[in-house]
Amino acid sequence: MSEVMIEMKNIQKRFKNNHVLKGVDLTVNEGETVALLGSSGSGKSTLLRCINLLEIPDEGDVRINDFSFSADKINKHVKLEARRRTAMVFQNFGLFANKTALENVTEALITVRKKSKAEANEIGRKYLDKVGMLGAANQYPSTLSGGQKQRVAISRALALDPKIILFDEPTSALDPELVQEVQRVIRKVAEEKVTMLIVTHEMDFARDVADKVAFMSEGQILETASPTEFFTNPKNERTQKFLERYMQRFTYTI
Ligand SMILES: Nc1ncnc2c1ncn2[C@@H]1O[C@H](COP(=O)(O)OP(=O)(O)OP(=O)(O)O)[C@@H](O)[C@H]1O
Ligand SMILES: [Mg+2]
Repeated sequence: MSEVMIEMKNIQKRFKNNHVLKGVDLTVNEGETVALLGSSGSGKSTLLRCINLLEIPDEGDVRINDFSFSADKINKHVKLEARRRTAMVFQNFGLFANKTALENVTEALITVRKKSKAEANEIGRKYLDKVGMLGAANQYPSTLSGGQKQRVAISRALALDPKIILFDEPTSALDPELVQEVQRVIRKVAEEKVTMLIVTHEMDFARDVADKVAFMSEGQILETASPTEFFTNPKNERTQKFLERYMQRFTYTI
């Protein structure tokens, strides 16, 4: 039996009168890649951010492997422990502009993980190499393409050896011709059984990379299934509508 890496139970979140998460349950097992799909505004980013506590849930329980917390007992210590076990890859890369690719990867290893500079550099080089970016170790983000920046951000997440990597639309800020290179890297990471939760609007990528697909609509997860089951035989009516709309958009843009 593989371990549970993420378990969320009855997660609720409101922004003023906007009830954004309406009791979400989600489990991600060790080594699994889960794709989180859903229309714009359905609450996907908010749900991810309730795992590493960039947003504080109003209600519910979260477990990140060996660490559990309840919405009503979140303090600085809990935030620190949640962030120690997770890494996030953002749409807009989130690299430090004044640091080289290698320094971006080693920063948290040195300041948070308390590694020596030499050890951090060794780890940093190893993970830059994994995403094909070792040759750009000394370059600044402004000299890299969007795809290259995102690969550095992914190597930074991997270097932290987190329990799970949270991806929020990792390819949606990229020029179309750069999407593939980043998807290829994520696929390679998935093959190495790194646990990942990926929010994406790219259906082909989700189908290809995910072990499990979860579909969110209006603050709830309506359906969780294998990619084959999800894309060929969606059970929920709203899932069917979502996929139909996606297919229509696809034919219009051809
Ligand atoms: N910090 C915030 N303050 C107030 N409202 C917010 C905040 N963050 C998100 N929301 C609202 O919560 C709802 C869900 O937003 P969220 O960003 O989680 O959706 P999403 O599924 O990630 O959408 P998208 O696919 O467009 O990224 C939206 O109505 C949004 O306006
Ligand atoms: Mg979002």
